[in-house]
Amino acid sequence: MAELDLMEKIVSLCKRRGFVYQGSEIYGGLAGTWDYGPLGVALKNNIKNIWWNMFVDGRDDMYGIDAAIIMNPKAWEASGHVAGFADPMADGAMFNTMFETSVGAGEEATVAYLRPETAGGIFVNFKNIVDSFHPKLPFGIGQIGKAFRNEIAPREFIFRVRELEQMEIEYFIRPEEWEEAFEQWRGAVHAFNKAIGIPEKRVHELEVPDGERAHYSKRTIDFEFDFPFGRRELYGLAYRTDFDLSAHEKASTVELKYQDPETNEKLTPHVIEPSFGVDRTFLAVLASAYAEDEQNGEKRVYLKLKPSIAPIKAAVFPLLKNKPELVERAREIYTDLKKDIPQIMWDDNGNVGKRYRRQDEIGTPYCVTIDFDTLGETPEMLDTVTVRDRDSGEQERVAVAELSAYLQNRIRV
Ligand code: GAP
Repeated sequence: MAELDLMEKIVSLCKRRGFVYQGSEIYGGLAGTWDYGPLGVALKNNIKNIWWNMFVDGRDDMYGIDAAIIMNPKAWEASGHVAGFADPMADGAMFNTMFETSVGAGEEATVAYLRPETAGGIFVNFKNIVDSFHPKLPFGIGQIGKAFRNEIAPREFIFRVRELEQMEIEYFIRPEEWEEAFEQWRGAVHAFNKAIGIPEKRVHELEVPDGERAHYSKRTIDFEFDFPFGRRELYGLAYRTDFDLSAHEKASTVELKYQDPETNEKLTPHVIEPSFGVDRTFLAVLASAYAEDEQNGEKRVYLKLKPSIAPIKAAVFPLLKNKPELVERAREIYTDLKKDIPQIMWDDNGNVGKRYRRQDEIGTPYCVTIDFDTLGETPEMLDTVTVRDRDSGEQERVAVAELSAYLQNRIRV
């Protein structure tokens, strides 16, 4: 499969099956904006939930926040973004890529910015978290949310967009701990990829050289992924030193220090920042999962998604849609199952083969068919269903009473 061809296939599948649509499509779109459809938002939520469970809920040293997108513009002056968050334009002039808006009406209106990184909201909440929770160093603050960049050339589908979503952590440490913490987070980035099914062999670390790092960073590793259009940045890991806390302390005149509860020593913590783009993660997951093969002599496209991130965990169908007794029993089974596993789908269109193809294409790991044996046509098969595995195509007979546990065990991974 030619790689560019692959990108076209992914974009077309995303649109056709309701993962991602062009933003404001009926008006001809708006460059750099995309809308996530029902399956896209489900997949995106699964990615975000795995991240949050792994890095916030799953740890004792992490605090989650959800800060405002529009912040006091002084914060972006202090962080260096007003002066330095710029890209070169074709004629050589620099162009600040922060989106400007105005806050308030008439003469009272003042300029403000949509945040270009969620990190800003974390730094301005450092003191709040310290005052409310008295955490001990090292500790981190995590946030998932939208960020905005007026990119000069948005391109490559959801790879470079103007409205993006980030999952970011600022991990506060003592300065002498930075190398150790950097290594730990480097490992954590790989662990996250593993959890969502991005293969290690497609991810490459790039040590960003002096002169090419962001203005705040003393060391940066870009985690690059082999996208269909080339090897590009997927995530970043940066050592931001005490640049931000010191700058915000100076500009706000509010002390942003940590006081050791035992020694009373005061210090400005340094920070390690793993930064994950949700949209790029989404694209890397799809590019990793897209597969074509032949099953029973028929060509098929399928998404080999890990069950834990698949938007639909199982589809349930009656073998035939014109047999009321089958439909009724299938509905009962579906309704019961949906209480335990909300991400399931009913499908009774076309024949079973067509349903399999449709579910394969959206990455549904299991298909459950209710047939005449379920109703007792073969007495020893009464109250059993067929469960078909997406990747192997193999089918297994499972008792209805065990179906929920059977699926729940398998969709966790
Ligand atoms: N707080 C650090 C920071 O924002 P960055 O390297 O500018 O660093 C971090 O961005 C991540 O956000 C990137 O690795 C990428 O995943 C994502 N990202 C940045 N700009 C993006 C864009 N225009 N479209 C999609 N994702 C983007």
